[in-house]
Amino acid sequence: MSPRPGPGLLAVRVLAAGLNRADLIAYGSAPTSAPGRELAGEITAVGDGVEGFAVGDRIMARGHGFAATAVVEARLAIAAPEGLSDEEAGALPVALTTMHDAIVTHGHLAPGGRVLIHAASSGVGVTGVQLAAAFGASTIFATSRSSTKLDVIGRHVGPIDSELVTIDTSVEAFEEVATDVDLIVDNVGASVLEGNIVAAAVQGRIVQVGRLGGREATIDLDELARKRIELIGVTFRTRSDDEVAEIFTRVRDDLGDRLTLFRPRIAGRFALADLEVAFAELAADRHVGKIVVVP
Ligand SMILES: NC(=O)c1ccc[n+]([C@@H]2O[C@H](COP(=O)([O-])OP(=O)(O)OC[C@H]3O[C@@H](n4cnc5c(N)ncnc54)[C@H](OP(=O)(O)O)[C@@H]3O)[C@@H](O)[C@H]2O)c1
Repeated sequence: MSPRPGPGLLAVRVLAAGLNRADLIAYGSAPTSAPGRELAGEITAVGDGVEGFAVGDRIMARGHGFAATAVVEARLAIAAPEGLSDEEAGALPVALTTMHDAIVTHGHLAPGGRVLIHAASSGVGVTGVQLAAAFGASTIFATSRSSTKLDVIGRHVGPIDSELVTIDTSVEAFEEVATDVDLIVDNVGASVLEGNIVAAAVQGRIVQVGRLGGREATIDLDELARKRIELIGVTFRTRSDDEVAEIFTRVRDDLGDRLTLFRPRIAGRFALADLEVAFAELAADRHVGKIVVVP
């Protein structure tokens, strides 16, 4: 029997946990000391005041997943749909909340909008492509430095109503292909900022999510002003638990019955005991989608 968790909390047996780039960045050469940021789990005990969850339910949540058991906040959990495997459910919370916040809440994507997703092969990127399609983008420009990875993304996403235009940035300047873009989801940062200003439409939005390509860049403020571009930064680091809970509420309300549309691509599955090997695989940048560990 698990000890009873505190009010508002759920005790879970971890089934799978996704790896995130942020752990490599925050924990440097020792990412294995990271506790993890997301998981799928089976509820073993429910704290006071929790509604809507019961012992035995399978959930996906933000929480410390690199362990056999975890305690998570019920408001940062979503019932895992039957159609998703444990690995898929454990790989979804960070990407789904990050991309919903970027594309819907801050990006205000309207049906028919043109969207550019940088580092579309990343864990967040693949979900971003799926979300942009679900919210009615007319065209989705997806970038990667590898044409092979772009093919994999296209196959994983499958038939969608949006036109998917893939851009291999090792051979093409993305801003020459992606023009008049209403929403740019920037998972790359400094190395693409100048091009983003070129690619953006008048009144376009750039949501700055990741700095894989550097954190400092110069931009043409005259072009920013002329196009009336909104440049919006987002992170979980300065968000209170209440703010993160609000994102979960929006995701549940908006996507609750269609979560299986956002099936993550599992690019690697490792035993928790091999977390070091799993992080080495993430750092090698060969993956498309998510790498997970299972206890
Ligand atoms: N703001 C937030 O709230 C938030 C939340 C979650 C994640 N993030 C950020 O989003 C980014 C992606 O995270 P993730 O966990 O999904 O990453 P990931 O799965 O590890 O994917 C990273 C991919 O980005 C591309 N990349 C790596 N270095 C690059 C560079 N120098 N220039 C261009 N592309 C590069 C590579 O794809 P190709 O080889 O295909 O080019 C790589 O496979 C990270 O920066 C992370 O910190 C932010």
